[in-house]
Amino acid sequence: MRLGVLTGGGDCPGLNAVLRAMVRTGVVDHDDRFVGFLDAWSGMLDDRTITLDIDRLHGTLTEGGTILGTRRGSPYDHPHGPARVADAIARHRLDALVVIGGNGSLAIAARLFDDLLLPVIGVPKTIDNDVMGTDRSIGFATAVQTATDAIDRLRTTAESHHRVMFVEVMGRHAGWIAAHAGIAGGAAGVLVPEHAFALDDLRRLIERRHDHGHLASIIVVAEGAEPLPGTLPLPPPHLDQFGHVRLGGIATTIAHALDDEVAAELRVVRLGHVQRGGSPVAEDRVLATRLGIAAVDAAHEGSFGQMIAWTNGEIGSVALGHIAGRTRLLDPRTIELARVMTG
Ligand code: F6P
Repeated sequence: MRLGVLTGGGDCPGLNAVLRAMVRTGVVDHDDRFVGFLDAWSGMLDDRTITLDIDRLHGTLTEGGTILGTRRGSPYDHPHGPARVADAIARHRLDALVVIGGNGSLAIAARLFDDLLLPVIGVPKTIDNDVMGTDRSIGFATAVQTATDAIDRLRTTAESHHRVMFVEVMGRHAGWIAAHAGIAGGAAGVLVPEHAFALDDLRRLIERRHDHGHLASIIVVAEGAEPLPGTLPLPPPHLDQFGHVRLGGIATTIAHALDDEVAAELRVVRLGHVQRGGSPVAEDRVLATRLGIAAVDAAHEGSFGQMIAWTNGEIGSVALGHIAGRTRLLDPRTIELARVMTG
């Protein structure tokens, strides 16, 4: 078989591990050939490719980022974009196209399958862990570890100075990183997009801890956390070139609002893209390997229009049409655990 592959959307640790697993199983078990499209869909539209073979992937298991490059954007934004994707598949005589992406890229793959019946297979990756139909997305475990390591370091300086530290982590629509890193790091509070927060509750939390002699606190804030309507004025949203709201800064807004209200000294740390970089942790390497192998198996079975999933500790698959346009929010058990373990 001839397989095409691209990495789309924001990068994350573990993308190269998927490519490596696909190529190793494809070449060794099936005598497959691989074409890698550079910079996501744009490489398909402009025909920028590299050949992926075992030698090219050598040594990449531990490397973060993606050797294919990635970017946001959709073929549907270009004149004849979807037809050009179909042309690229025909030109390279591909039997399947594996799209390793988050919600945006997977929704595009779903549409290409519906509109043109292209032989696409999805693999979920995003540090936000918010792809529907899979318990885990590649990159999440590493981002949680990075955020937890940061919290551990911030705790020592927070305790030395008796300060309250707001640690802002990624999580646009879902608070998976915030909840997991908050639980793992023993945070005093966790703010997630799923629940609007009240500034007064935060003030009371800090005061209550002070009254009990806990002068240092870590409060983890997901970048997508929102205040209860009308309780905290927010700066106007800033859009990127693809029309997405550029998040980041909610923790600073909260700290400014609380500065005069609490006796404690406040500091803000925004982890930003640090969470997307670096070497994948073991869990992401194994997940990426299993999903990559399953994607090649799916291609050989002709299971197109599907996303490979990791559910209840097992490899499975789910129709791309089922997950497109949906977001996997925090589950009630994790929310409850975060509530019990903080405060
Ligand atoms: O990959 C998802 C994500 O990490 C979001 O949490 C974040 O808002 C976004 O990417 C930022 O991505 P970029 O700065 O690359 O557009």
